[in-house]
Amino acid sequence: MGQLIAVKATGIGTSAVFDLDRSLTGQDGRSFTTAPEPTDPPSLLASRLFETDSGISSVYVQSNVVTVTRSDPWTEETLGQASEVITKLFVVYEEETREERITRLRDENYNATITHIREHNPELWVLRIKPDEPIEPFKPGQYTTLGLGFWEPRADEARDDFSANPEQESKMALRSYSVSSSMIDEDGELLDPHPSEVEFYVVQVKPGANETPALTPRLFSRGVGDRIYMGRKFTGRYTLDGVDPEDNCVFLSTGTGEAPHNQMIAELLRNKHVGKIISVVTVRYRDDLAYTEEHEVLTGRYPNYKYVTLTTREPENEGNKVYIQDYIENGQLEETLGAPLDPANTHVFMCGNPAMIGPPKWDEDTGEPTFPGVRGVAEIMHERGFNIDHRKERGNVHYEEYWK
Ligand SMILES: Cc1cc2nc3c(=O)[nH]c(=O)nc-3n(C[C@H](O)[C@H](O)[C@H](O)COP(=O)(O)OP(=O)(O)OC[C@H]3O[C@@H](n4cnc5c(N)ncnc54)[C@H](O)[C@@H]3O)c2cc1C
Ligand SMILES: NC(=O)c1ccc[n+]([C@@H]2O[C@H](COP(=O)([O-])OP(=O)(O)OC[C@H]3O[C@@H](n4cnc5c(N)ncnc54)[C@H](OP(=O)(O)O)[C@@H]3O)[C@@H](O)[C@H]2O)c1
Repeated sequence: MGQLIAVKATGIGTSAVFDLDRSLTGQDGRSFTTAPEPTDPPSLLASRLFETDSGISSVYVQSNVVTVTRSDPWTEETLGQASEVITKLFVVYEEETREERITRLRDENYNATITHIREHNPELWVLRIKPDEPIEPFKPGQYTTLGLGFWEPRADEARDDFSANPEQESKMALRSYSVSSSMIDEDGELLDPHPSEVEFYVVQVKPGANETPALTPRLFSRGVGDRIYMGRKFTGRYTLDGVDPEDNCVFLSTGTGEAPHNQMIAELLRNKHVGKIISVVTVRYRDDLAYTEEHEVLTGRYPNYKYVTLTTREPENEGNKVYIQDYIENGQLEETLGAPLDPANTHVFMCGNPAMIGPPKWDEDTGEPTFPGVRGVAEIMHERGFNIDHRKERGNVHYEEYWK
């Protein structure tokens, strides 16, 4: 920023089009009919154009094109004035200090506060967020969006390079997060289903060889009291819809994929679910499980609820790694559940690593699924006569992939 913008101006009657050598907005564009509060480059531009020329009646900024109308026809002089304002936009914008800009961007973009962080380990948090507005109703299993600006510091050693696209630093890194739940209060009672805060369960993703995670390293640089963006809408078809009170419910997850299951299990137990419930979670190390104590309380209290954890990278797993797929195929799941995996009365929920799920591709003509090379739970369930959710057709195998 701070550089001059090259502008080509064309005025015809009361309309003028200015072609810029860079974009100021996305394709949606921004329209102004009065001087706006200058909060970002397009609004600063509009506000300065209205200030400079009282004859201007509207400004429309779309990508790298600015269309400006006047009440009187454009003249060489008014075209020159407007071009000058556009050329120097970033010079003026840069006069705002970095600190001022960050304060402004936070004010503009954040709508919620981090109220609680339970640091299970430095890279695994259970956190609660309180939005400024009341929480819209949602179903257990659904997710919303969390976001922080690219201007926020990172908790890891990776560095972002914004030099090719300086505007990126003023944008938001947005990601989806399932709503989790601590399930019980300090007295061990099931939590109120309508809290004033929303709980999330998040692991800090480490930079890979080819990708630099955007949001979690920034989230892990935040603390209690810090502001954040949380989507107002909760969404997703990964819910308990269609589950009857007598059905057996099998929840399978990897890592933080147990988040939605915690909400769903609390809901089933609150509703005095009659069928059996089991939650199986696979993690690399024992220390990657943040909700074990709550599950122990619940399994002690509800005879129809079982919680099973599998590790894969502890010393004892050397040459003895049991994935969830193995746990099903060697019969241990049915044994612990205390019932056969019968499609007639069982719902299977899978969440987390897509390799565990193994979601199918569907042949649009035959309606038949094709499974990925690496065997996932979806394939095993299909072989056992279960129906996998497909488009609007609800089956008894449901899944939420955390990435593709
Ligand atoms: C519907 C939905 C709900 C989600 N809910 C949660 C949740 O409750 N908790 C949560 O931690 N994440 C959740 N995620 C993942 C989340 O959206 C982010 O992708 C993740 O937090 C990493 O964000 P990032 O910007 O740091 O890295 P990204 O650039 O988004 O991810 C980089 C890579 O990290 C890996 N990765 C992403 N998420 C995870 C994860 N959770 N565990 C292990 N490896 C991962 C993948 O290989 C991915 O390609 C959910 C995703 C979806 C689609
Ligand atoms: N877990 C940690 O130690 C840890 C700590 C801090 C940060 N992180 C970061 O978080 C991200 C990963 O977190 P994560 O460990 O929660 O998620 P993950 O990589 O999805 O692993 C969760 C569990 O899923 C298992 N899994 C992998 N492939 C599978 C398959 N095909 N079928 C069934 N199960 C399978 C893993 O076993 P495998 O052991 O075989 O992979 C592991 O036990 C990374 O970016 C990492 O850097 C991880």
